[in-house]
Amino acid sequence: AVTRREAYQPPDWHVPELALDIDLDPAETRVRATLSVIRADAHDRPLRLDGAGQVPLSVTVDGVAINDWRLEGETLVVPLDGSAHTIETEVVIAPERNTQLMGLYASGGLLCTQCEAEGFRRITYFPDRPDVLARYTVRITADKARYPVLLANGDPIASGDLEDGRHWAEWHDPFPKPSYLFALVAGDLAANRASFTTISGREVALAIWVRERDLPKTGHALDALQAAMAWDEAVYGREYDLGMFNIVAVDDFNFGAMENKGLNIFNSRYILADPDTATDQDYDAIAGVVAHEYFHNWSGDRVTCRDWFQLSLKEGFTVYRDQSFSADQGSAAVKRIEDVRVLRAAQFPEDAGPLAHPIRPDSYLEIANFYTATIYNKGAEVIRMMATILGPEAFRAATDLYFDRFDGTAATCDDFVDCMEEAGGVDLTQFRLWYSQAGTPRVVAGLAGQPGGRAMLTLAQHVPATPGQPAKQAMVLPLKLRLFGADTGRPLTDERLVLLDSPTKEIAFDGLAERPVLSINRSFSAPVIVESARAAADLALLSAHDDDPFARYEAMQQLMLDTLVAAVTHGRADHAAAVEAVRHILEDATLEPAFIGEAVLLPSESFIGDQLAVVDPEAIFRARAALRRDLGIALEPLWRAAYADNAAGHYEYTPAAKGCRRLRNVALDYIAAADPQGGAALAFAQFEGTDNMTDRQAALTTLAGGTSDARIAALDIFYNRYSDNALVLDKWFSTQALSTRDDTAQMVEELAHHPDFTLANPNRARALVGAFAVNQRAFHHPSGRGYRFLADQVIALDKLNPQTAARLLPPLGRWRRVDEHRAQSMRAELERIVATPGLSKDVLEQATRSLDD
Ligand code: ARG
Ligand code: ZN
Repeated sequence: AVTRREAYQPPDWHVPELALDIDLDPAETRVRATLSVIRADAHDRPLRLDGAGQVPLSVTVDGVAINDWRLEGETLVVPLDGSAHTIETEVVIAPERNTQLMGLYASGGLLCTQCEAEGFRRITYFPDRPDVLARYTVRITADKARYPVLLANGDPIASGDLEDGRHWAEWHDPFPKPSYLFALVAGDLAANRASFTTISGREVALAIWVRERDLPKTGHALDALQAAMAWDEAVYGREYDLGMFNIVAVDDFNFGAMENKGLNIFNSRYILADPDTATDQDYDAIAGVVAHEYFHNWSGDRVTCRDWFQLSLKEGFTVYRDQSFSADQGSAAVKRIEDVRVLRAAQFPEDAGPLAHPIRPDSYLEIANFYTATIYNKGAEVIRMMATILGPEAFRAATDLYFDRFDGTAATCDDFVDCMEEAGGVDLTQFRLWYSQAGTPRVVAGLAGQPGGRAMLTLAQHVPATPGQPAKQAMVLPLKLRLFGADTGRPLTDERLVLLDSPTKEIAFDGLAERPVLSINRSFSAPVIVESARAAADLALLSAHDDDPFARYEAMQQLMLDTLVAAVTHGRADHAAAVEAVRHILEDATLEPAFIGEAVLLPSESFIGDQLAVVDPEAIFRARAALRRDLGIALEPLWRAAYADNAAGHYEYTPAAKGCRRLRNVALDYIAAADPQGGAALAFAQFEGTDNMTDRQAALTTLAGGTSDARIAALDIFYNRYSDNALVLDKWFSTQALSTRDDTAQMVEELAHHPDFTLANPNRARALVGAFAVNQRAFHHPSGRGYRFLADQVIALDKLNPQTAARLLPPLGRWRRVDEHRAQSMRAELERIVATPGLSKDVLEQATRSLDD
């Protein structure tokens, strides 16, 4: 059954209070739920409670057992006469058999929950929708030896021991919340504790709960939590509101983490870190995700979503908040570059393909399929654009108004934009198209110089058709731009913000002392594709002189992209301009190493493919490898100098040390491109000699793409050294799945039979299958074996875990972008998936949408 945004109806019954009494056991957990229900208005409809996978053992109304309840599908329907009642239900569930990892499930000896979006109904009967907010009291009973720690949302109120080795704990959460924020954890856990004093002077007890042996790896996450709490007070005026804040790390988790009120549950990969096992990227991601989930306490928990079509209300805003936090912790320029790279790698292709949807979708079959880069990352860009249009002070006033007005309620995206309009004194009527129109807008920009120091800038916008949206209206695109002198590289104008809100616009510039070069969409002020035919020399000039670091990076990327597209289209290209521009960046002593490391990176194969009408993965691979080799050879002394100059001492996680490692490892890869044998020797020495995973994994990646004997040796050493560490073994799998070698597809098929491979663990499944499917050349192997492999894995995983299976499928939907031979193989695999008996609606929806024309 398709759910439609337009069909929203407010709930028939409110549930102000819910008491849960949960008697835990992996095979047989008993859940008693007591709901106080109040008829919302003068209707005569029965109470309808969502359920999934269980049956009611008993139902009572106001203390009396009834038998006129019925099941409609899985919905429990209870006829009620009055306007206020107490309903009690009892069910039995089996967490150890829950392979979907939604609801209550077992993970490595723990029992834990994941309820967003619709997992709570797998635990008990309840109106499982985000606009029904209840105050929860939870009593947990369990075997004390096996589950010494019992956690739930809110603050603990009582606990005690029972006979026969069991014990109990009671928790109360005073803040009304929707069921998707419910959480419970039981297990043998140890805590890294700290405290935080809020701005108004309240003490909050913080704890990160992990297995005892992982305690030494929790310091970074705890630091990040404290930094995030202080940042949200300083930047958004948001204070924490309970006496306790708990985080638990679990090994089996479908997503990154979950913002359950007062009890965040994390995929352990976003908590555990030490220099020997986690890379700088892991450290960054941990801080970002810890902050993200913490920020949800206000943007998500205190103010939640009215319905799931509003998901971007909390996710887009919270991603924007975590991006801003991370930007403030290190290099803001590098953070912006990374965020744009993620957007281009994950969201632009989604917006250009069969699964395109607006940040506020209109319909879905399975909401789990809409936890997408569009809702999250494009959603964040939409908030960022409003912040740009309003300016910092008005934006802060608008978020204050939003939190104030909607505290304790379930709101909509329109409510949020209303606050932006009111506090900002701006009209965002047309801007709201960002919420309803899918597709990445394209801007064509042309700058024509005229005699007498005059230049005319012509801007034209076009929003491409997307499934279900053939025709689009012109949107509001905030474009920051500035002109630079082609001879001197000096700025000729100030930076200005142009709101392109019509199909075309012309802007005149006067008094220009030299020929102008256009710098546009500076800091990536709008999430659009800019087409502006600028000569290689002009791009090189911007890459050397632009004062906006993002624009400088962007000019470099555009220059490389133009070079690569020419190479793919004509079979060969002149690399000289790109080489000289990279040389200039490497020789610029004023630049921070972290920035250089980003600026000299080649665009990814998939981003190159996005510029072409028909993607030929082999040709793209070859063009990119050729440019990489030429850059390596032409600039070898500079790469070797960068490698030598950026050697760090002992591992330190600071922005400066991180930047040095980044540049050094990029240099290592260019050295290996110039000199495969010497590069492999250097990489192997680094692999063996380093004290940290950043350098070890980078060396392994360089080796894994080559043909040296050191490759096998390094993979073996790595495997043996970390065979008891699941998170590092994931890297061992993904490094091989991402290898640029010719035989990667075959190697990956073999790795799927490795004793350490399992689809039951989502991290492991993503490490091998997910990584392989984004390895363009390997996945698109002309034999079609890559497509067959992915389909086999999706079909197998769907039987265990439909949500994670569905999230692996999208690369098969890109068949329109490749040649007819490949397209046919891809469609055949999608059809095979659709024809599989017993398919989940998660995978069915993704596969059928991927096939649709
Ligand atoms: N709200 C969580 C977060 O972004 C993610 C929950 C994912 N749930 C899902 N059904 N995909 O922090
Ligand atoms: Zn989130």
